[in-house]
Amino acid sequence: MSDTRRIAIYPGSFDPLTLGHVDVIERALEIFDEVIVAVLHNPSKKSLFSTQERVDMINESMNGLKPVQVDTFDGLLVEYARMKNAVAVIRGMRAISDFENEFQMALMNRKLNKDVQSVFLMTGLRWIFTSSSIIKEAAQFGGNISDMVPEPVRLKLMEKFPKLND
Ligand code: PNS
Repeated sequence: MSDTRRIAIYPGSFDPLTLGHVDVIERALEIFDEVIVAVLHNPSKKSLFSTQERVDMINESMNGLKPVQVDTFDGLLVEYARMKNAVAVIRGMRAISDFENEFQMALMNRKLNKDVQSVFLMTGLRWIFTSSSIIKEAAQFGGNISDMVPEPVRLKLMEKFPKLND
């Protein structure tokens, strides 16, 4: 029996997951049967959280939501997508500034594998200014980021940045 579920990959660094990412996952689930959140494992890229910590935070934040799987990948994204029988790669778009880089990546991915489509989803307006890096910066100096990240992520950020406890 052939599997007709439409699977999408949502790749990223997720260092850490934000509510903007969660918003994109929820939108993707309205279109696809299953979303695989794929955390890039790249030891040469400096990150605050280890790959395993990032995976754990996503699993805890998605709270066992059935059609969402969390995984890691390395190497080429389109090869990973092929291995998972995914029909699409999801990327969130916040502002025009995201466009150039995303456009370039999507065209390269298409060149490498024409069977995987790039699908861009607009994040909700309230997440337009959030990013993992700006949240980490605010958290580092004790800024309140509680309404920008899921609770399991806030707790992990508190461990990394004790100032956040203040
Ligand atoms: O959250 P990010 O850092 O914007 O995610 C970037 C990511 C992981 C999607 C991108 O760097 C990626 O796909 N890396 C894997 C290597 C690859 O396939 N690159 C694109 C074509 S060369």
